[in-house]
Amino acid sequence: MNIDILLGLQWGDEGKGKIVDSLSPVYDVIARFQGGPNAGHSLEFNNVKHVLHLIPSGIFHADKLNIIGNGVVIDPAVFKKEIEELGPSVNELIKRLIISNKANLILPTHRILDAAYEGLKGDSKIGSTLKGIGPAYTDKTGRNGLRAGDILRNDFQQLYNDHTKGHMMILKNYDFKFDLKEYEKGWFEGIELLKKFSVTNTEYLVNELAGKGKKILAEGAQGTMLDVDFGSYPFVTSSNTISAGACTGLGISPKRIGDIFGIFKAYCTRVGCGPFPTELHDETGANLRNLGNEFGSTTGRPRRCGWLDLPAMKYSIMINGITKLFMTKADVMSGFKTIKICTSYKVNGKICNELPFNNDCEIETVYTEIDGWNEVITKYREFSELPSALKKYIEFIETQTGVPVTIVSVGPDRKETIFRN
Ligand code: GDP
Ligand code: IMO
Ligand code: MG
Repeated sequence: MNIDILLGLQWGDEGKGKIVDSLSPVYDVIARFQGGPNAGHSLEFNNVKHVLHLIPSGIFHADKLNIIGNGVVIDPAVFKKEIEELGPSVNELIKRLIISNKANLILPTHRILDAAYEGLKGDSKIGSTLKGIGPAYTDKTGRNGLRAGDILRNDFQQLYNDHTKGHMMILKNYDFKFDLKEYEKGWFEGIELLKKFSVTNTEYLVNELAGKGKKILAEGAQGTMLDVDFGSYPFVTSSNTISAGACTGLGISPKRIGDIFGIFKAYCTRVGCGPFPTELHDETGANLRNLGNEFGSTTGRPRRCGWLDLPAMKYSIMINGITKLFMTKADVMSGFKTIKICTSYKVNGKICNELPFNNDCEIETVYTEIDGWNEVITKYREFSELPSALKKYIEFIETQTGVPVTIVSVGPDRKETIFRN
């Protein structure tokens, strides 16, 4: 039971990168299990902010092993850019980063298809990051994918040509302009860079390390409300973002799982389209966005902001089997006179504590108001130092969910973290 999982409970961007980086010192291995370059995981130390898309958030700790698991979809062009911007040399990074040979590749045409499909959807578009995620996972489950291990095959170029030809036949039906050559250059350079890394059966490695008692942290991407099965379908991503995804995305048994950490913002954000019951279209929403710097780490899009949504959070806790909660960004709400928490939904005038199946059903939100705190909290490192109103806010969440809040993040820097015993 020495594999812990850290995943998002909301619509992504809960602060996973920051917390994984802060927790890395107590783990031996950090392993990403799903998603791809749609993710943007930010972390900060020494006054520098880093944003990771494919690479696990333990990469800045020189003595830790990082694994990109089989559940991840890799765009070699994004991989190359990210490696080059990281800081440490490639020779150093190849010692710290191992890639599953079963991770599927995002082809240049997957990105083009993503844009073509989304373009056709018009008003019902998903708000995809357009990184090729949907088409790449579609090819994976449709058994048409190319995998990282294939790059070592002598006939790789032929395989690539065949796959691309198939995609081009589909694209002929779309009135969509694109320049494949432009994408391909960076992509093939990325393939050459990938070849320098160990691309291997990481499921053996993860199980061997776990068997030897090494501590492994499985890092999720996106959030539970974007899960392909349990999120607000079709306004979701194309992978299982939930705890079960760590087992399929790394090749581990549920028997090996220890803690399942659920991370949430003290309020809610969503980037892209789809239902968001507690969304604020007023000045308070704008304040959350500006004070919290709520702009997408991958696309720069403004994030939609709203109050904490307990029905959604309780659902996420149930689906994932969360053992500990981590709360981020309460510092953003310092100075708010009152803070609202949605405790239940009303549908057709009746209290409804289950998330409705239909995305277009009118949800009325029922709120509890809690006093805010008028104090800058970023400087605090001990739970006891936090203002009593914030402690009450946390206590309310713990009572409602039945799960303890064991980390309170009070700022973006790795040091701005309160570990509660
Ligand atoms: P992720 O996708 O879950 O890793 O989250 P993102 O990195 O996309 O978005 C979280 C944003 O909030 C980033 O800009 C972080 O630097 C920042 N952040 C994380 N934790 C805190 C916190 O406790 N307080 C503040 N003010 N910012 C935070
Ligand atoms: P991290 O890991 C927030 C959203 C997109 C869109 C939907 C589908 O940083 O939390 P996709 O590109 O997967 O086809 O987009 O999911 N989305 C995210 N939102 N954080 C993310 O990742 C996201 N990854 C995808 O905005 O609504
Ligand atoms: Mg993010």
